Amino acid sequence: MSNILVTGGTGQIGTELIPFLRARYGNERVVATGHRKKPGGEIWEVGPFAGLDVRDSVTLAELVSRYHVDTIYHLAGVLSAVGEDNPQLAWDVNMNGLYNVLEVSRTHGCAVFFPSSIAAFGPGSPLDNTPQVTVQRPQTIYGIAKLSGELLCDYYHHHYGVDARGVRYPGLISHQALPGGGTTDYAVEIFYAALRGESYCCPLAADTALDMMYMDDALRAAVELMAVEPDRLKHRNAYNLTAMSFSPEILAQAIRAHIPDFSIEYDVDPVRQAIADSWPNRMDDGAARAEWGWRPAYDLEATVAIMLRKLSERLGSR
Ligand code: SER
Repeated sequence: MSNILVTGGTGQIGTELIPFLRARYGNERVVATGHRKKPGGEIWEVGPFAGLDVRDSVTLAELVSRYHVDTIYHLAGVLSAVGEDNPQLAWDVNMNGLYNVLEVSRTHGCAVFFPSSIAAFGPGSPLDNTPQVTVQRPQTIYGIAKLSGELLCDYYHHHYGVDARGVRYPGLISHQALPGGGTTDYAVEIFYAALRGESYCCPLAADTALDMMYMDDALRAAVELMAVEPDRLKHRNAYNLTAMSFSPEILAQAIRAHIPDFSIEYDVDPVRQAIADSWPNRMDDGAARAEWGWRPAYDLEATVAIMLRKLSERLGSR
């Protein structure tokens, strides 16, 4: 039976992963943690919640012991664009947080899910069909921490037998919590503008292609990866993962299929643009497909349709 602890529980992924895990394993078996105060709302009341700054190894170890945790989904992290504003903070949270999670997993026998990212690639990586194993020279502090994190997870696996597994997530599209400070955030913000009847001012150029994924696929991927027999995994940390690749212009066109007068304009942010230009256009996720049967369910059209439907229900009910 799994007892799970989720770090970064109030973030974009955690807000949806926690109910997903609780539906599967039981409310009491999933400990949500976050560095912010507990948000309001039923999902935070039905199971345990604890305040946690992942740099605080003592509190982390205390929670792992108290709740007999055997699996940690380590989501806490500073995203790419805000990381460039404060690289020292991003390194501290992203690297020392992961180190603390791996150390407590070594001493308490926990399995670890670590989300790496398209950001672990950079100049010199092939941008199209980016291979599972290739040049990785990221230039953002976020990407450097993700790549270092992949290596550290493998180190803990090889040296200490910690069952650490990870994916390189693309930009994640979701309708609950906002991402907050990433380069791919535009692909979420655009839906809010479209539903408010506003023109969207995009910080990336019209033809900037990036890998993307709808949140339901991202959650399923994490849980499926953690459930696979360990001897099937050759590329543990971390698997390329994608569901679709599009540019802002292509996404705007797909939204226009539902909202014909939707308009997009461009005011390119040079920091975000340089980051996006160094990331893959489309990754090859063949290793995830071959080793643990990864298949995305949502393509661009399905993602746009569900985002507009779910978000209009939510915004309309406010
Ligand atoms: N979505 C993240 C970001 O843009 C990449 O992993 O920072």
